[in-house]
Amino acid sequence: MDNVQAFELYSESGRRDLIDPFGRAITYLRVSVTDRCDFRCVYCMAENMSFLPKAEILSLEELDRMCSAFVARGVRKLRLTGGEPLVRRGIMTLVNSLSRHLRSGELDELTLTTNGSQLAKYAAELSAAGIRRINVSLDTLDAEKFRTITRWGALDQVLAGVDAAQAAGLKIKINTVALKGVNDNEFPRLLEWAHGRGMDLTLIEVMPLGEIGEAGRLEQYLPLSMVRARLAERFSLDDIDYQTGGPARYVRVAETGGRLGFITPLTHNFCESCNRVRVTCTGTLYMCLGQDDAADLRKPLRASEANGPLFTAIDEAILRKPKGHDFIIDRRHRRPALARHMSVTGG
Ligand SMILES: C[S@@+](CC[C@H](N)C(=O)[O-])C[C@H]1O[C@@H](n2cnc3c(N)ncnc32)[C@H](O)[C@@H]1O
Ligand code: SF4
Repeated sequence: MDNVQAFELYSESGRRDLIDPFGRAITYLRVSVTDRCDFRCVYCMAENMSFLPKAEILSLEELDRMCSAFVARGVRKLRLTGGEPLVRRGIMTLVNSLSRHLRSGELDELTLTTNGSQLAKYAAELSAAGIRRINVSLDTLDAEKFRTITRWGALDQVLAGVDAAQAAGLKIKINTVALKGVNDNEFPRLLEWAHGRGMDLTLIEVMPLGEIGEAGRLEQYLPLSMVRARLAERFSLDDIDYQTGGPARYVRVAETGGRLGFITPLTHNFCESCNRVRVTCTGTLYMCLGQDDAADLRKPLRASEANGPLFTAIDEAILRKPKGHDFIIDRRHRRPALARHMSVTGG
């Protein structure tokens, strides 16, 4: 108990904030609302995935209660992810309900990361609910390559989703996973396309999460230091201080005027300033994307209608948040560093 009290910090409103053992305030929660997806991206999932039975998945009401508990404890930014968040049945009920925290001022931002396939259907509603920015994952502008990477996806549908989101006034950041020999010749084109439409672009290094079938990680892994050096031969990249509360380092591209981000978990350790935790759709809280340690929040959530047990479970877990991850991909580490897929924690 002494230990617990050592890290308690009260905000001006008297609320007990979530502070980890390294003094980092936890203000950002990412929630995976489903493990299911309408795509099967080669770096994220195996083609034949088995998904969780419904009884294990938090209901929309339980997800709302859990998110709201974190908001009550100082979380200012909430990102819905998955699997594909927009394939969760009733997703707009959850979004509309959570948007009350935006109106009350307790939450600075409610956002989501999506593959874009359902955006044409939901963009206007998302915007009406107070969502201002979203991340759309898109690894190529080549329709055939898109099908190969996503296995099941259709590029046209995603591009129509991007159009709809922009028409609804949503700001978009495009996330692109850098895949060696697959999309590495396309970055200039993607950059010009994204910046030409007023969207930031962030490149992401592939992370060793989950068994993915035939494609080995070493074959996919492309260090972004190399990508940056190659882009710098063609564009002027100026380091800028822009921060989104995330792990990306940004440059301004002089020729396009747009921002380009690099997320480099393997070549650059971004853990020191980590302010986030992740919850899966079963209510499992992961304190670090790159570690296995987790806490079960579903049990306290279902055991009592009062939030006391839930808060206790959250407090105990935050005190175990590790300093950082230790991903490695090299010839001796071809196996996944962690058994769980990115679609479990949502990236
Ligand atoms: C797991 S997805 C969930 C949200 C949504 N389905 C989407 O694709 O945006 C979140 C992000 O994780 C990325 N991702 C998935 N597996 C990854 C891996 N092994 N390494 C790096 N990024 C990965 C995806 O490209 C996507 O940008
Ligand atoms: S990256 Fe997103 S869209 Fe692709 S399989 Fe994973 S969860 Fe689905």
